[in-house]
Amino acid sequence: MRKDINYNNIIDGEEFERAQAAADAAADLPADEIDTEKFYVTQAYDKYSEENHEVWGEMYRQRMSKLEEQASNTFIAGLKAIQLRPGRVPLLFGEAPHPTDPERTVTGINEFLRPLTGWQSRAVPGYLPAKAFFSCLARREFPTTIVVRPREQMDYLPEPDIFHDVFGHVPLHADDVFAEFLQTYGQAALAAGPEHTEPLSRLFWFTVEFGLIREDGRLKIYGSGLISSHGESAHALEAPAPPAGVELAPSDQSGRVERRPFDLDRIVNTAFEIDHYQPVLYVLESFEQLRDAMNGYAERVMDGASASR
Ligand SMILES: [Fe+2]
Repeated sequence: MRKDINYNNIIDGEEFERAQAAADAAADLPADEIDTEKFYVTQAYDKYSEENHEVWGEMYRQRMSKLEEQASNTFIAGLKAIQLRPGRVPLLFGEAPHPTDPERTVTGINEFLRPLTGWQSRAVPGYLPAKAFFSCLARREFPTTIVVRPREQMDYLPEPDIFHDVFGHVPLHADDVFAEFLQTYGQAALAAGPEHTEPLSRLFWFTVEFGLIREDGRLKIYGSGLISSHGESAHALEAPAPPAGVELAPSDQSGRVERRPFDLDRIVNTAFEIDHYQPVLYVLESFEQLRDAMNGYAERVMDGASASR
């Protein structure tokens, strides 16, 4: 969590320090000695402020007004399956009193998600280093930031908050095929040598964060960076393409978007820049295509890992 952003920090200070230190220390441990439970913190649900619930609700309604049109059916189905609601920040686990209505209780999204795919959303203090992050994915645990952006940063936040992580990412974890893909990604990343670090970060970027998919002959978004961004989602779907045969550079800011067919080998060789709208996106034909390509890549990683032993 960046110190220059005025969050309502709902995480206990000591717990925060302990979890962050454990995640940092994981970088030096062998994969089978990493205990992901040490990275997680308590979501003190009663500490969310009125503004937190309002900001969540305003962003939820703003995005949903477009997502019925823009988003993959799989995303919309997942959002309903985990019972995300506009009226309040999501609870992750168990039950809690409703923040505005003492007559009602709130049920955690994991109570709906876990029976479907075994995935769970787990509260973390903030950014997790790569090895800690991959260890969580390998166990079907999704590290989730739980603070809500302050109202003055509703349109742009330079790091994930609960809106990006839960609204943007978690609905897809309710889908069997995506669930398998993301776990395989984590397992492969954990086993991979340093030569795979950059290729795997590109794969994550062009799928999990900024992926497009063709459904019923129409282009849809599923990447969380697009799902959670009002401006870039429209740009990704509607901006004109470059002339046929022209490839855009990662730094291109001409306002065009080159939508390439999904191709894992091409993605892992495609550079990206993070601080402007993406000029290059990759389009899946199905989530099975993503899962199968990931399985193939994971086999290559595992072969390399056993060959170097
Ligand atoms: Fe993300």
